[in-house]
Amino acid sequence: MILQGKGFTLRDWQKQDAESLQKHANNTHITDFLFDRFPSPYTLQDAVDFIAMKMAETPQTNFPIVINGEVAGVIGLDFRVDIYIKAPLLGYWLSEEYWGNGIMPGAVKLIVDYGFNNLDIMRIQAGVLGNNPKSMRVLEKAGFVKEGVLTNAIFKKGVILDEHVYGIVKRGWD
Ligand SMILES: CC(C)(COP(=O)(O)OP(=O)(O)OC[C@H]1O[C@@H](n2cnc3c(N)ncnc32)[C@H](O)[C@@H]1OP(=O)(O)O)[C@@H](O)C(=O)NCCC(=O)NCCS
Repeated sequence: MILQGKGFTLRDWQKQDAESLQKHANNTHITDFLFDRFPSPYTLQDAVDFIAMKMAETPQTNFPIVINGEVAGVIGLDFRVDIYIKAPLLGYWLSEEYWGNGIMPGAVKLIVDYGFNNLDIMRIQAGVLGNNPKSMRVLEKAGFVKEGVLTNAIFKKGVILDEHVYGIVKRGWD
């Protein structure tokens, strides 16, 4: 599958993506704003394991962000279980080399369209660390609404932070 954006492409994962994924993901300026489960340092084996896991998933909900033939970022929807089954969580990161060019707002719009057109979901949700206004701006540019702030919900690298909860719903999205 190929989703074409302005200046980037979202496509299927390939085993050969491991090297560029490792190169761009291995950056604490990125991992500082992600779940602790995201490896740091990010090794080639981490990249190989991640790609194998994503290649085995159907339907596809996770895409490499390809720029100049390299995996320069990742965007995906994480399905939750039980009563949250129709409201997956959105996650993303982009190589520092490409920040500030509007790549991620474009990628978020593409995956929202893909999700609402192809998956049995009613809502997409994203949680942003209180110290990450750039990511909040990305979501706002892509049509998400800030629905609330969870005070002191996050403990990241020894610091207590608020979580800003953003959502977009299928009803009214088109
Ligand atoms: C957050 C991230 C995805 C942004 O991607 P990007 O493609 O560079 O996004 P943009 O090009 O839209 O640039 C960010 C926007 O935030 C704005 N911005 C930058 N610093 C800001 C600040 N301190 N306060 C408010 N807005 C800010 C920029 O001006 C730009 O908005 P504009 O186009 O209206 O001027 C990227 O920096 C990244 O991967 N960060 C590390 C991982 C991460 O934070 N992931 C998200 C976890 S929720």
